[in-house]
Amino acid sequence: MEIKSVTGNIATVESDVAVVNLFDGVTKPAGATGAADALLDGLISQLIEDGELSGKLGATTLVHSRSDSSGPNRILVVGLGREASFDLAAIRTAAAAAVYRVKSFAKTMTTVVHGAGIGGKDVRTAAQALAEGTILGAYSFDKYKTPDDNEASQLQSVSVVEFDDAKIPEVNKGIANGIRSAEAQNLARDLVNEPANHMTPSQMLAVAKDTADSRGFNFKVLNETECANEGMGAFCGVAQGSKEPAFFVHITYQGDPDDPDNNVWLLGKSITFDSGGLSLKSATGMLKMKGDMGGGAAVIGAMQAIGEFAPKINVHAVLPITENMPGGEAQRPGDVVKSMSGTSIEIVNTDAEGRLTLADAIDYAKSHGAKQIIDIATLTGAARVALGTGNAAVFTNHQPLADTVLTAAEEAGDGMWQLPLDQASKRLNRSDIADLKNSGGLPAGSISAAHFIAHFAGETPWVHIDIAATSMTESGTGPFKCPGATGVPTRTLIETVQQLADQS
Ligand code: BES
Ligand code: MN
Ligand code: ZN
Repeated sequence: MEIKSVTGNIATVESDVAVVNLFDGVTKPAGATGAADALLDGLISQLIEDGELSGKLGATTLVHSRSDSSGPNRILVVGLGREASFDLAAIRTAAAAAVYRVKSFAKTMTTVVHGAGIGGKDVRTAAQALAEGTILGAYSFDKYKTPDDNEASQLQSVSVVEFDDAKIPEVNKGIANGIRSAEAQNLARDLVNEPANHMTPSQMLAVAKDTADSRGFNFKVLNETECANEGMGAFCGVAQGSKEPAFFVHITYQGDPDDPDNNVWLLGKSITFDSGGLSLKSATGMLKMKGDMGGGAAVIGAMQAIGEFAPKINVHAVLPITENMPGGEAQRPGDVVKSMSGTSIEIVNTDAEGRLTLADAIDYAKSHGAKQIIDIATLTGAARVALGTGNAAVFTNHQPLADTVLTAAEEAGDGMWQLPLDQASKRLNRSDIADLKNSGGLPAGSISAAHFIAHFAGETPWVHIDIAATSMTESGTGPFKCPGATGVPTRTLIETVQQLADQS
């Protein structure tokens, strides 16, 4: 599917369907929607009056234009919601709803830039959100289904119609940025949606390498023996229960080669399947655990886009890739392992494995000169209990870095909410026989997990994003029409890195 811009009037440009919009509560459509209404001899106004056409966010109404003359064969009116609450997220949701509605029959679609007219948004950012919503909304994961012509997407081209020729360069920039970001996010979704028997550690390694190679990044991988030699006892402890070989990946994008200290490290939890290990999960708890590499997937997606945006900052990606399995050599509850930095850890629950892999990833990053660290992890089921599915949990030891991430998340439309690293919760990780234990138990589960990682971050500015509740969606919400992986927070990471580059 290609997305391009054209100058013209949406009511006269040829297409299978033309998408216009309507704010909730508007009774007399204006602008492009007014032009479509005129083309339809007032049918849109009539449907609004009859209460059959809604401007509620994401609502879609399809009408045939029945005109023998040139122009669109159909008009789709998509709701933008209330004007008072209109934002970039509404543009993405509306664009996704529109493309999802028409993709089974339309080969060509035209659309206005939602929000750039009456909505009052800057045309470039609005066009970017439009492209993002379109690409995210068109996404499907059906490679394991026998093709069905009735369900397959027919959509070949989406033309963004802009009346004012002078705005086209800005529209084009927005579209180009949106395509990069949303395609990166869809890559992350693909990785998460892949079943764990396909997305094995070796396969995830291959995708990481392809992405790095395609962008000309430096690529380094350690095998399990090399990890053991580096002293990564925490990571190796998790990996030892699986017969699939584990890998520790380090990708480097050199955006500021003259200043190696101008860097940010993105660490992604990359458990390709989390059985829980010997502290085995329940059948239902285990079912979604092919997605336990969602953090690493978002990092790979972000790196793909970063290679195109080329910000002036060095970006390091670290992926400790392994399964967490209960094989005969699996680590036992009660075992004590030693992390790369020397901290001893009592394994009280082999299912609290993500923080173990991240502990060594952080020590590795710090020993290689990390100045800022962001880790992204499907870390705790408790994140869902605390915040539901609308927000990922954010933790930090350095508020300015967290503020940058939260601002970027706001722009990307990825829900995030900061939680505290309070002293009472820190005590939960105390062990009787080692420096730390790997689980603080049920209460404040996301916070004690963050405290565990904070121990290894030490003084290095660090932000932890727990995406356990936002990495997958059951129903398909906002721009995610396809149930399964959301690919968040790929675009937040891309935006964060660009903002950090601008700050430096
Ligand atoms: N991968 C899970 C967390 C998770 C749960 C992600 C649900 C996505 C959806 C993580 O490794 C885990 O098992 N965490 C445990 C921690 C506990 C043993 C302290 C949990 O949340 O139950
Ligand atoms: Mn686990
Ligand atoms: Zn896990």
